[in-house]
Amino acid sequence: MIKIIVMTDIHITKKGNKIIGLDPMRRFQEVYGAAIADHPDAALIILMGDLTHHGKIIQYQRLSDALHNAPIPVLPMLGNHDIRENFREVFLDAPTDDAGFVQKIIDLPDHRLITLDTKDGPFDHHAGSLCPARMAWLKAALERANGRIPLVFMHHPPFKTGIIGMDNINLENGSEVLDLLAQYPTVHLFCGHIHRTISGSSRGVAWTMFKSPCHQGVLDLHDPDSSLSIDEHGTYGLLLLTKDGVVAHSQDVGFPQKIQRDAGSTTH
Ligand SMILES: [Fe+2]
Repeated sequence: MIKIIVMTDIHITKKGNKIIGLDPMRRFQEVYGAAIADHPDAALIILMGDLTHHGKIIQYQRLSDALHNAPIPVLPMLGNHDIRENFREVFLDAPTDDAGFVQKIIDLPDHRLITLDTKDGPFDHHAGSLCPARMAWLKAALERANGRIPLVFMHHPPFKTGIIGMDNINLENGSEVLDLLAQYPTVHLFCGHIHRTISGSSRGVAWTMFKSPCHQGVLDLHDPDSSLSIDEHGTYGLLLLTKDGVVAHSQDVGFPQKIQRDAGSTTH
């Protein structure tokens, strides 16, 4: 069994700048530290976009410094709060496809990991998209999986969650992406962007998304404000890759966690 740690929506700011009173770097270090301490045998850490809050070089530099000497390989992706050029200026070894998009394929014995770059337009355009070139890249990646189970990672969900503020800025050509993914019955899709742990399926495509290490989204199905945030525990995801598929765990961090036995029962 292969373990993969997933963290999404880190939102690193300039030193001292907070988001709803939270220090994103402190929260990232807390969650990252817990994840690698709990799972030193993980094969990979995937950072699923919104690495920074404003896409500034200094913010990428702070993240790069925090990841220096990481004991587990780190695979970064981009989100709507990122600026590709600034990211690439700092993360010189970041995986890119031939067109310069931050995308990568990793083949494991039973799985093919496909990380996508859904960033679209200028910084203040928060919806995502996969242009024809990226759609063609994804199509080829899926076609050549050679029997492996495709695990697809993208920041922007290509489906609606019911949280309308975020649904208004999801993947603009989500319908096209779902139609493609639906052709692969074993595919599992992982997304970020919403800052909540949610799972479901769309057109038969199973998907999972995770909370952020920092500020979380709100379960409000009516308010169109996509900046609504709440201070809940920081979270990382842990994927267990089995011969049969994938198991997705979500782990909260940052409060006293004491494992106890229930003296009144032998089970949950
Ligand atoms: Fe985010």
